[in-house]
Amino acid sequence: NKTGIIFDLDGVIVDTAKYHFLAWKHLADDLGFEFTEAHNELLKGVSRVRSLEILLDIGKMKLSEEKKQEILISKNEDYLSYITKMGPEEILPGVTELLDTLDGLGIQYVLGSASKNATLILKKVNLFDRFTGIVDGNSVSKAKPDPEVFLLGAKMLNLKPEKCIVFEDAIAGVEAANAANMISLGIGDKQTLHKADFNFKDLTEISPDFIKTLIKKQK
Ligand code: G6P
Ligand code: MG
Repeated sequence: NKTGIIFDLDGVIVDTAKYHFLAWKHLADDLGFEFTEAHNELLKGVSRVRSLEILLDIGKMKLSEEKKQEILISKNEDYLSYITKMGPEEILPGVTELLDTLDGLGIQYVLGSASKNATLILKKVNLFDRFTGIVDGNSVSKAKPDPEVFLLGAKMLNLKPEKCIVFEDAIAGVEAANAANMISLGIGDKQTLHKADFNFKDLTEISPDFIKTLIKKQK
């Protein structure tokens, strides 16, 4: 009768959401249209390829397949220029404490991210070895809000979906967790993430008692 946790990466464990935003914004600048933080919410949690489609819709642009491939490569190169400089100081507040709490309670956790750079990032911030498993953009074929990434996470934890709790900062991610029949914890703006079962500003707001109560409820 165990519970398991699935963490999104970007915007939950590390603040890479700001680097994704910068890289997409540079691209929009080059293509000659405006790209705001509000637009960026639509890209959070979404795969790289799907993000480009949404971005081009925002700019009302159509590009050839060849040009799109070129752009995806340069977006990732731009993004990686930020990532390669990352270190453990970029772990978001409350993350390390929460992982310590989960370890103490014997609760296993895996990563459920759309990013193809997830392993690299976790290694950069020295968190890679703490996770029981990694589901990332290389292991899924359907992007969030499809539940595939989280269902694979549940498999990795050897648990039924309804025994899993998901931490997410993206609208698409909360929708994916709900579609997977898991408990969704929205991390960030409450209005934006109103579809989540519970809302928190960041992980410092999550107490060991809250985790214990959730687990009891799930039994
Ligand atoms: C995460 C982020 C998205 C990003 C996606 C793909 O879900 O929230 O903003 O586009 O991963 O990341 P990648 O590192 O593979 O480009
Ligand atoms: Mg995220």
